[in-house]
Formats: sequence, C-alpha cells, structure tokens
Amino acid sequence: MAALKRRTPSSGYIIMGIQARPVISTLKIFICIAVIGSVTYGFSDRPPAGRTGAPNESNCTVCHIGTLNAGPGKVEIEGIPSAYTAGQEFTLTVRVSHPDRSRWGFQITALDSQNRPAGTMSAIDTTQTAVVNGTGNLQGRTYVEHRSAGTFPGQRNGASWQVRWTAPSTDVGRVTFYAAGNAANANNESSGDSIYTTSEMMPSNGAPMIIQPVYKKGKIILQANGSDISDGAVLVVSGGSLSEPQTFAMAMNSAGTKWQVKKKTKSTPGDLIVDNVLPAGGTVTLVVRNPSGMESPPVNLSRP
Ligand code: HEC
Repeated sequence: MAALKRRTPSSGYIIMGIQARPVISTLKIFICIAVIGSVTYGFSDRPPAGRTGAPNESNCTVCHIGTLNAGPGKVEIEGIPSAYTAGQEFTLTVRVSHPDRSRWGFQITALDSQNRPAGTMSAIDTTQTAVVNGTGNLQGRTYVEHRSAGTFPGQRNGASWQVRWTAPSTDVGRVTFYAAGNAANANNESSGDSIYTTSEMMPSNGAPMIIQPVYKKGKIILQANGSDISDGAVLVVSGGSLSEPQTFAMAMNSAGTKWQVKKKTKSTPGDLIVDNVLPAGGTVTLVVRNPSGMESPPVNLSRP
C-alpha cells in the first residue's frame, strides 16, 4: 500500500529518469510499469468489494486511516422504497457530504434481514460508477461504487451518485441498504480522508409479508425477521380442497425468529388443524392479516 500511496510524484521522476539515462536495467523497467500501472488502476478507481460496513464486512478505513463516522460529514441513501414486486427496478441516490472536503467516493449493497444478498445493485452511469462482486464468504453480494471519473475532485460540500437496485425474484421481506462514503481531501492518497457508513432498512408500509413459508410436522412456519407481521396477526388459508377460507391464530417461536401455526391450533370456522387444510401432496394459498386489517400478498405453499 505504501508504494501505491506515493505514486503521483514518483511516477513523474521515473519517467524523467528514463529520458536522462541511455541504459535502463530490467528492474527499473519493472518498477516503472508497476508505478505507471498504479496511476491508471489505483484505488480511487474501484476499491475492493465488501467495504460498506454491512455484516461480515469491513469498511474503507482498512486503508483510509482515521476514525469511522467522525466529524461533520455523512453518507445518506435516498429513494429507498417501502415495498417492491419481484424484479422491480428502483433508482437510489447515494450522497456523501462534508463542509471541508473536496473529493468523494462510495460503495453500496443490499441485504435481507438474514444478511443474504437481496436483489442486485447495478451501475446507471458506467463512467462514474462501477459494479464489483463479493467473493469468498461475501459471494453473491453485489456492490456499486465510484470510479475515478466519479470522484469529483475540487467539488465542495458533497457529491451524489445514482445506482439501480433490482428487487429479488421472490419476496424476502424488508431489505436493508448499507453504504460507505469517503469525504476525501483530494491529495491522491488514502490519508487525511473522512470515512462514513450508514445502513437503512426499507420503511414499513404497514403490510405484512410472508417470508419463506414451510410446512413442518403439522405446523406452518413463516420467517419473522423483516416480515412486518404484528402480534395478533392471523393466517388465512384457502384453496386446495377447502370449500371456504380457514383462519388460524399464529404464535411466535421462543427464539423470536419465526411465526407459526402450531400443530394443535384449530381454525375458524372449520375447526380444522394444519394437517387437515394441507394434506400431503396438497397446495394452499396463504395470506397474513395484521390486526390493523392490512394483508400480505398471497403466497402458495405446497406440502410434498
Ligand atoms: C485496499 C485499500 C483501499 C480500500 C479498501 C479503499 N481505498 Fe480508497 N484509496 C486507496 C489508496 C491507496 C488511495 C490513493 C491512491 C489512489 O488515488 O488510487 C485511495 C484513494 C481514494 C480516493 C481519493 C482520495 C483523495 O484524497 O484524493 C477516494 C475518494 C477513495 N479512495 C474512496 C474510497 C472509498 C469510498 C472506499 C470504501 C468503499 C475506499 N476508498 C476503500 C486505497 C483503498
């Protein structure tokens, strides 16, 4: 990293050195290529993936020395929707601001409430921004970040970039967006900059969502995190062999992570248990209704 940091002055000197000397050693040519290479592909153009500060990630301070989220700056994410349909596209704006800075950068990603990738991030302006992909334990996470041409050297107070978020192909509940921003001092080095991070969950629109419904040993189980299912919500089961919809009370599991219709819970009006409404080989339609009256979109559940 130290070699990269000093690249601006040293590249100039080495090029002058070539012109002045008739004989150049192989080693010097190698150094020259390495240094000029870092001018073109330095980290102000596309830093590595996985630096938004999201769960299991670091942030830009691994290279940009300094205290995270200190001083009068901030990074914000605007345009986060409160609901989405499968594959729906949204334009989000990432804004980094600081009263005393003059160069800017960012990185953003989207995760579900289990910290898995949620949908995909893609670049709108491919000159100013680029996509990078997570690797290793961050496999599947997609990021958009600044490129060198999108750092706005000399621009005061702040900068913003637009990115596209494509919603996942199934409803994964409320998604959280994580972003890191660099309010930099434009010295072409990783020193003296201010790094900020933020995370923002989709606002609730009040409607519950059915996430990962499963039938298991006489129970119907739904993921609770990010689902906006409130205490007192009921599960309405229809379709299959049912002549009329059946309503079940739901209970939270002891870990507070899943909503379930228990094995012995009976429905109204039919006085049926889960195994009656969803026999082996059957398919039913589920809707969750919160006490507010708001209902989830319907989701089918099959039992093998
Ligand atoms: C692997 C180390 C590394 C990481 C991680 C990294 N950077 Fe950098 N960054 C550098 C280095 C080295 C420079 C200076 C050389 C250059 O400009 O390429 C730099 C320069 C910059 C600059 C220009 C700074 C100035 O004052 O001129 C910006 C803006 C920037 N990085 C943004 C970011 C952001 C935003 C992140 C986090 C999402 C990040 N960087 C993560 C190493 C890194």
